Amino acid sequence: MKDGKFLTLGIESSCDETAAAVVADGRTVYSNIISSQIDIHKMYGGVVPEIASRHHLENISTVIGRALQEAKTDIGEIDLIGVTKGPGLVGALIIGVAAAKALSFAKDIPLVGVHHLQGHISANYIAAPGLNPPFTAVVVSGGNTDIIDVRDYNDLVLLGATRDDAAGEAMDKVARVLGLGYPGGPKIDALAKEGNPHAYEFKRVFLEKGSYDFSFSGLKTGVLNQVNSLKQKGEEIPKADIAAGFQMAVMEVIVRKAVDAAMEFGRDRLALAGGVAANSLLRTMMHQECQKNGIAFFRPEPVLCTDNAAMIACAAYYRYREGFQDDLTLDVSPVLEF
Ligand code: KG4
Repeated sequence: MKDGKFLTLGIESSCDETAAAVVADGRTVYSNIISSQIDIHKMYGGVVPEIASRHHLENISTVIGRALQEAKTDIGEIDLIGVTKGPGLVGALIIGVAAAKALSFAKDIPLVGVHHLQGHISANYIAAPGLNPPFTAVVVSGGNTDIIDVRDYNDLVLLGATRDDAAGEAMDKVARVLGLGYPGGPKIDALAKEGNPHAYEFKRVFLEKGSYDFSFSGLKTGVLNQVNSLKQKGEEIPKADIAAGFQMAVMEVIVRKAVDAAMEFGRDRLALAGGVAANSLLRTMMHQECQKNGIAFFRPEPVLCTDNAAMIACAAYYRYREGFQDDLTLDVSPVLEF
């Protein structure tokens, strides 16, 4: 406790960001430290799990120390430790969980393991202090494209998910083919602004009627075939037009399904989350479509969309308040249901 506020230390290490944060009363961010490994993995065109684990190990103590320091507190004032337990890269998750367990044991602080996607959704509670369940959540990241009915803080029902590539993964792969570098999402976002989204009409895959699942691998292959066919003809690749057409095809499907889900379940609020939620076209299109249908639209600022520990601290706070707690047997999991 500090000045009557309940302090949660959040720890996140599921992929290529080592992060720690201190959050007061679940929603007020005192510090949010993110040490990104993107520059290290860039040269390999994607995240290399072994390298990620090693860097988490090197950075975790410093990152936690900085989070406490920036929050002007110390471990003695922390009331709760929340840590990502999965899904994610096992070797990377283990580093965060081991650090959290060590601090919990040494300082006798309660410990709560958090589902990474519940964390992403919780970024919206930080960004919008008035937001409470129920609402529809759309988590779009490098590993997930999920539509979730958030019935209560800890009652999350998965309505649909990707059957193959996640939206971010497809964006990263298409960006690689276009020679834009890693991570591809922000590069496609920027380049698409200079292109015509209707120069190439790529196929939108909606799957069976009423399904909230996604499939982006066919679209990705469509783009690859288009690029190869242009190359074979010796023509120049109109990268901006292809990026714009591809991005439009991805976002149209996500927006349509998300708004349909909110309408079917009678939700008048919709929240975006995950790294791809930083995408400017997705934010604009979702906003417009929500407005048309009388749905209030929430999206965290980009720094809270990509992996961070403030969102994990927030999720941990709401789990602890409802009696969830873990002990030193807490384990990590690469795949995890809610
Ligand atoms: O949530 P996140 O940081 O990591 C996990 O996957 O958990 O998401 C990373 C993904 C990457 O695929 C990246 O290309 C994508 O988010 N991304 C974007 C944008 N910024 C990040 N995709 C589209 N537009 C963006 N502006």
